[in-house]
Amino acid sequence: MSSSDGHPMAGEPEAGRADRSLPERSAPKLSVPAIRDRKHGGEPLVMVTAYDAPSARVAAAAGVDIILVGDSLGMVVLGYEDTLHVTMEDMVSHTAAVARTGPPQVIVADMPWTSYHEGPAKAVTNAARLVRAGATAVKLEGGTKRLKVLQAILDAEIPVMGHLGLTPQSVHAMGGFRVQGRNRADGKMLVEDAIAIADAGCFAIVLEGIPEDLAAQITRSVPVPTIGIGAGGECDGQVLVFHDIVGLGGKRAPRFVRRYADLEGLAGEAVARWATDVRAHRFPSAEEAYH
Ligand code: KIV
Repeated sequence: MSSSDGHPMAGEPEAGRADRSLPERSAPKLSVPAIRDRKHGGEPLVMVTAYDAPSARVAAAAGVDIILVGDSLGMVVLGYEDTLHVTMEDMVSHTAAVARTGPPQVIVADMPWTSYHEGPAKAVTNAARLVRAGATAVKLEGGTKRLKVLQAILDAEIPVMGHLGLTPQSVHAMGGFRVQGRNRADGKMLVEDAIAIADAGCFAIVLEGIPEDLAAQITRSVPVPTIGIGAGGECDGQVLVFHDIVGLGGKRAPRFVRRYADLEGLAGEAVARWATDVRAHRFPSAEEAYH
């Protein structure tokens, strides 16, 4: 039984609730250094996005290695066309919601657009806000041109994950969400970027939307794990958006998404059945009322 704000009523059994128990997580907790060390062997790393308490609980219980509070939340849950509208306030609020569930996993929070583009001092302040909200590490997009900012955040003892290839915050500069690194010169630049940010101290690098053979070359060239999304199977790990995996991502999914459930269909069916029961005076029952 729930109060109108979703809390169980004091002293009441949770009558009428479906069993929400989740599978036990099987993977041990990985620290940032342990994630970096996975470059030297072990299973592929598994990272998934979470933007709120329910998705964080599911991801934690499923035993993923890393939870990413991605700025994709702008498109996935806030309804924007791109990630450029996501603010520091959004990221702090969603990071805190994930962290309050107390997952054993490392939480990586995305630094939103402009939060690290106005110089190292502002970038450190913003990265620290995300850590105070509960992040273990931050992620930022870009290669060689981010080195100063990267160094400043690392100097503040905040671990940084890099992000190269199709970097969504550059959507206008790229001319749309397009696969990157298709020609030799662009590919070479991405390899150089990856080596530069790995040498600077990134503990892992997301490779998004690049050809598989380029991702494989980058993976061979850097001493830290690469985590791919739309970058083929040769990376040291994979990341997907939670809502895409469980079928809450809307109709159109890119080809690199594999959907494992249809929660949108299931949820729609559940709400429709409840509506039918209300209209037929079958809800609430005597057991679901106070006497
Ligand atoms: O914001 C996000 O979800 C991401 C992943 C696509 C890597 O950055």
